[in-house]
Amino acid sequence: APSVADARKDNPMWSSRLAFILAASGSAVGLGNIWKFPYITGENGGGAFVLVYLLCIALIGIPIMIAEVMIGRRGGRSPINSLRMLTQHDGLSSRWTWIGWMGITASFLILSFYSVIGGWALAYVGQSASGVFAGGDADSIGALFGDLLADPWTLLLWHSIFMVLVIIIVARGIRSGMEKAINILMPLLFVLLLVMVGYAINSGEFVQGFTFLFQPDFSKLTTAGFLTALGHAFFTLSLGMGVMMAYGSYLPKNVSIVKTAVAVSVVDTAVALLAGLAIFPLVFANGLEPGSGPGLIFQTLPLAFGKMTGGVLFGSLFFTLLVVAAVTSAISLLEPVVEWLEEQKGISRLSGTLIGGVAIWLLGMLTILSFNEWADVYPLSFIPAFESKTIFDLLDYATANVMMPLGGLCIAIFTGWFMSKQAVENQLDIGNRIAFKSFMFVLRFITPAAVAVVFIYNLV
Ligand code: PFF
Ligand code: NA
Repeated sequence: APSVADARKDNPMWSSRLAFILAASGSAVGLGNIWKFPYITGENGGGAFVLVYLLCIALIGIPIMIAEVMIGRRGGRSPINSLRMLTQHDGLSSRWTWIGWMGITASFLILSFYSVIGGWALAYVGQSASGVFAGGDADSIGALFGDLLADPWTLLLWHSIFMVLVIIIVARGIRSGMEKAINILMPLLFVLLLVMVGYAINSGEFVQGFTFLFQPDFSKLTTAGFLTALGHAFFTLSLGMGVMMAYGSYLPKNVSIVKTAVAVSVVDTAVALLAGLAIFPLVFANGLEPGSGPGLIFQTLPLAFGKMTGGVLFGSLFFTLLVVAAVTSAISLLEPVVEWLEEQKGISRLSGTLIGGVAIWLLGMLTILSFNEWADVYPLSFIPAFESKTIFDLLDYATANVMMPLGGLCIAIFTGWFMSKQAVENQLDIGNRIAFKSFMFVLRFITPAAVAVVFIYNLV
């Protein structure tokens, strides 16, 4: 059997544990936290949904992140090649490499809509800077968003600019410069979110918003809500598709995978909860509907920017940082597609980036049209659960609620039941026997069972 590489030889490693945490957080923290988390929480009734989501992060997300980073570091290659290498080495079926293939497909599909939403954020940088939010009320701010959605050409323009940004960065090789950008801009985004929470405490219905987020009312949570919470745990942590494997392949050997995965998950969760605390007090103070859907942050935050002193500056800065967060996540979505074209098809990095990027850009049209011309087109309406799902809704569902949890389930089973025990123990390097045994118990039983139960519940 071929020997297993310790780490990539042809690429520099992350300069430190912190650098890896920053890069992995760069992928994790993005639109999922600030755009998606608040709106799906609103749609699913608040507290109970948030509680299930937090449980999914702790019992499913963190173990799977650990498992992914472990596979990546042990394999030392791109996800598919790491899986191929490890299965050969441990004498396992090569079918496990399917995890990698599914991950690339999911990356491709996710980026096609992620870029369109990233485009909304770009559009809002300009809107904030122009001062149109000044003194706006819920109606006028809502109308601005409605106008943006109604115009496919404007959406196409912003989607295109977003994709061009991502293509340029990926084509030039991602490592250089990214560490520094994330190092400075991510903490700044965090600070700005704190400012927005401060505004919500002073000027919003903070108690009502807080209660909505943290007081569980299980009568409001549907079976579909459970799956959405599970899917979002995967989406927000960039799990189940090999992205964390790819980053893990650059992780130095002496760094603790467990501590690192926990740190990334805590940062990601904190950002999401802060976004929720900034938004829901505004929702209630302005008589808005928590379940109003994907436009939620674009209909609430501008209300605050329009009223607070320095709102033009804060607003422009906030949406700029949101774009940066979205771009660092988008890079981690395009990268596996390009790597696959390079490795499997022998295409150069530049051509690979262009081919992959253009294909994703084209697919993005489906999402753009889902918000206007095709807003009433429900391709799978013959299936009751998908009765009123647009193409965008279906792309989101297929990736976050099906492909990512399925990938994660396979990863948990692979590392928990099949991969060499000795290798797992070496990689994890948890000194304490009881802690190690407990972790393995969670990875082997709790994590797979939890994913399976939510899946099966949704089928029946
Ligand atoms: N985790 C990102 C977010 O929360 O915005 C989205 C994402 C990035 C999902 C990369 C999947 C992925 F592979
Ligand atoms: Na996230």
